[in-house]
Amino acid sequence: MPKNLQEWRAFFAEGQWREINPYRLLRPLLFRMEPEAAHKLSITILQKRLIPKSKQKDAPSLRVKIAGLDFANPVGLAAGYDKQCEVIDEILDLGFGFTELGSITPQPQPGNPQPRIFRIPEAEALINRFGFNSDGISQCRRRVVARHDATVGSRRGIVGVNLGKNKDSEDTGADYVLGVKSFAPYADYLAVNVSSPNTPGLRDLQGREQLAHLLQQVMAARDAGVQKPPVFVKIAPDLTEEQQTDIAEVVLASGVQGMIVANTTVTRPASVPPHLAQEAGGLSGRPLFGASTRLLARMYKLTEGKIPLIGCGGVFSGADAYAKIRAGASLVQVYTALVYEGPFLPRRIKRELAALLERDGFASVSEAIGADHR
Ligand code: FNR
Repeated sequence: MPKNLQEWRAFFAEGQWREINPYRLLRPLLFRMEPEAAHKLSITILQKRLIPKSKQKDAPSLRVKIAGLDFANPVGLAAGYDKQCEVIDEILDLGFGFTELGSITPQPQPGNPQPRIFRIPEAEALINRFGFNSDGISQCRRRVVARHDATVGSRRGIVGVNLGKNKDSEDTGADYVLGVKSFAPYADYLAVNVSSPNTPGLRDLQGREQLAHLLQQVMAARDAGVQKPPVFVKIAPDLTEEQQTDIAEVVLASGVQGMIVANTTVTRPASVPPHLAQEAGGLSGRPLFGASTRLLARMYKLTEGKIPLIGCGGVFSGADAYAKIRAGASLVQVYTALVYEGPFLPRRIKRELAALLERDGFASVSEAIGADHR
């Protein structure tokens, strides 16, 4: 901040004030609230349209076409923020190129007891163990359909639906198949989530046979419908090399169109203070960046760039997004950084990313995908 009159003059005259993030002023108040209450409040703020809409037109270099979808920019909101499908256009209006709803379970379920989300400001991280609190397919579907019908002719942005399973479900395949059938007509893409750490047994679905069987059921259900949105699989960052190889092979053989790398981690890097490290759940944010980007690079190699990858985990800036793209991502997603940086974050990431592409002589995101491997 400016220290004297002269600096204050320059501050306004040279437009430095534009660099101030107003959210930073509000954040201490928000961080005094229970994280889950703050999340609910943020949804209400969006619904009341209290955040100015992004009017900035996306730079042509940011446009990405993958899996038959046209993204105006590669910065998306990750699953878990708009679990109940309440703020679809409100999120897109912040400047996100896409939003991923859910995870949605077939039947409504409450999730784990509260508290189930913890802030770690020292590390710019979160630990959550929500355990798929979901209003269920029927209610979520009603909201998605209402928005779909209300925006005919004016629809912007890509909307994905992330599918989960009920905790007490006896037929996992049937849960995902129901999700596919329910949302295929309304979703631009579907994400099969087999990587949340808070539903017992869910991550076992990443095993070779189990994954092959599940994806075969999912793809058959999708192919049986009239609309056939692309299907992406979302994987965990905590995989052995053997599991990584198995997943790459199974995913390529399954006909799935993309992979989201990655979900939250059950590991606890040293930057997480011990009193919070012991909380059960998935860790997200800054400490996840390294591991999730390394896994992304490895998956890009294993799949030989044959299917698009979505890089997720610890993206806070245009430089982070650019690193994921160079490692092999076609798109990126953010969640935790939104908590720490606020609603202007997608605008900043896009501005920084466009500048980095230009600096390095890339005319588009597509030219930079996987650049580190060449
Ligand atoms: C998540 N994430 C998540 N992922 C998913 O596939 N389904 C879900 O329901 C949720 N729920 C959820 C809740 C909360 C509170 C957080 C913080 C995260 C994981 C999320 O989509 C993403 O993969 C990770 O958070 C890593 O990205 P960031 O947060 O480091 O940008």
